[in-house]
Amino acid sequence: MAKHLALVGLPGSGKSTIGRQVARQGGWVFVDADHAIEERLGCSIKDYFAQHGEAAFREIEAQVLRTLLQAPQPTVIATGGGAVLKPENRVALREGCTVFYLHAAPEDIARRLRGDTVRPLLQGVDALQRLQALQKVRGPLYREVAHYVLDTQRNNPTQVARKICMQV
Ligand code: S3P
Repeated sequence: MAKHLALVGLPGSGKSTIGRQVARQGGWVFVDADHAIEERLGCSIKDYFAQHGEAAFREIEAQVLRTLLQAPQPTVIATGGGAVLKPENRVALREGCTVFYLHAAPEDIARRLRGDTVRPLLQGVDALQRLQALQKVRGPLYREVAHYVLDTQRNNPTQVARKICMQV
């Protein structure tokens, strides 16, 4: 089976922007897992969360991820920020992909995502506090699944994409 490339990290860490650049530079197919999930759902993730809750979303996310990992062509996958929460996703990502953790501090992400209306976990709460809480829980999981950790603060997206291309 094809060895894919997956990007993991908090929402707003640059997974989609950088993933697109990596795919362009390396001649890979690019898939944004959130878009694939929305296609499958037929509605936005935000609406699905509101109607069915997070647990139901995580089930669909795991199914879509499994489908993406079965693609015959090598693919760059920008995962959703919570894709690492399910142990089976972590195993599947680690086995089927070279995994890059895009690390950024919650403070920087909160600045980048100011005014975001799309991400359900960041609505109606203090975004910085929420991101700090997510980081606490997920930081170790991102590190567990990742083959490489890259800092997105000291490098712009093009530089990060170049570093990724040099590793694969
Ligand atoms: C989520 C992140 C989102 C999306 C969903 C849940 C999370 O993806 O999958 O809203 O749990 O952090 P991005 O990381 O692309 O924003």
